[in-house]
Amino acid sequence: MKALILSGGKGTRLRPLTYSGAKQLVPVANKPILWYGIEALVAAGITDIGIVVSPETGGEVKAATGDGERFGAQITYVLQAKPAGLAHAVQVAQPFLAESPFVMYLGDNLVQDSLTPMVETFKERHLDALTLLSPVPNPQSFGVAEVDAAGRILRLEEKPQQPASNLALVGVYLFASSIHAVIATLHPSARGELEITDAIQELINQHYRVEAIHLQGWWLDTGKKDDLLEANRIILDTYSNCSIEGTVDEQSRVIGRVSIGERTQVRNCTIRGPVIIGNDCQLENCFVGPYSSIGNQVTLTDVDLDHSVILQGARVENIHHRIVDSLVGRRASLKSAPRHPNAMRFMVGDDCQIELTSP
Ligand code: G1P
Repeated sequence: MKALILSGGKGTRLRPLTYSGAKQLVPVANKPILWYGIEALVAAGITDIGIVVSPETGGEVKAATGDGERFGAQITYVLQAKPAGLAHAVQVAQPFLAESPFVMYLGDNLVQDSLTPMVETFKERHLDALTLLSPVPNPQSFGVAEVDAAGRILRLEEKPQQPASNLALVGVYLFASSIHAVIATLHPSARGELEITDAIQELINQHYRVEAIHLQGWWLDTGKKDDLLEANRIILDTYSNCSIEGTVDEQSRVIGRVSIGERTQVRNCTIRGPVIIGNDCQLENCFVGPYSSIGNQVTLTDVDLDHSVILQGARVENIHHRIVDSLVGRRASLKSAPRHPNAMRFMVGDDCQIELTSP
C-alpha cells in the first residue's frame, strides 16, 4: 500500500498567509499540518509516500519536509502543473502509484482516528474505494454522501446547494488501482476541476465495491483561520506536554502543560497551558493563556494573549488590549505607538482581516 498526500492548491481561504507560503506548512502546535498526515501514515505502516506539489509552493514543501528520512518514510515529490482538481492530482501521480492500492490524504486535513483499521477494512473487504464520513454543520462546503440505513453510500455530491445529508467526505480516502480507469473518463466539474467525488460516484455507478466508515474522533480541515485555531486547540489539548528548555526567571509563573523551546527567555510572565513556545523567543511582562502556539524567534513584550497562533519571527509589543482568537503571520509586527497623535497606524497586507473594539 502506498500513500498520496495532496499538498498543492492555492490556499485562498488562508490568505494572506498563503501568499508567502504553502497552506500545508502553516503550523499547528508549532508543527506543519502536513507532517501530521505523514506521521499518521507511517504509524499505519505506510512508508512509500508521494506528495503532490504545485510549482508555486513545491520547493518550500520539499525543503521543509525532505526525503522522508526523519519520518521513517520514503517521499517522492510529484509536480501538478496546475490546480485542476483532486482527481487530476491522482492522474498526475499515476506513474508513482502504478498498480498499487493507496491512501489519498489531503495535506490540510487532520484526523484523530488511527488509519490502521481503515487500511485493514479496505484489504479484508477487497474494496475499490473506502471513504470516511463525518457529520458537519455546513455540508454545503464539502463533498456530501447520501447513505442508506446500513450506511452504504447511495450518492455523492460535491458542494451541494441542497445537501442530502450532513455527512461530509473527510479528506482521507483509500483506493484500488481501478480508480485510474474511472478518472480517465471524467469531465471537469462546474468549478473546472476533475473531482475525486465524481470519480467515486462513477465507481458506484459501475458497481465497484465502495464503502464508507463513519469517523469516531475529530476531523479538522484547516483551510480557514478559525479552523486552524480549532486545530491548534485540539492538538494542544491532546498532545502537549511539559518541557522547559529555555530559561524562566523567578518573577514568572508557568502553570499547566507548557513547553518552552531552547534558548527562549521568559521574564516576568504568566504562562498558563496548554501552550507551546518555540526556540529563541523573548517574552517579557506577558500573560500567555491557554491554546496558544508561539513559533521560533518571536518577541512578545507587554502583551496579554490567549487562544492564538503567532508564527515565526513575529513581534507583538505593548498592546493594551487582550489579544484572542488571532493568527499573526511570519515576521509580522503589532505594537502600540507611543507618539502623538493618539491614533492607530496600519500597514496591512492584502486580504488581511483586522477586528478592533473601541476602548
Ligand atoms: C475537498 C473535497 C471534498 C471534501 C473536502 C475535505 O474539498 O473536494 O469533497 O469534503 O476536500 O476537506 P476542497 O478542500 O477542495 O474544497
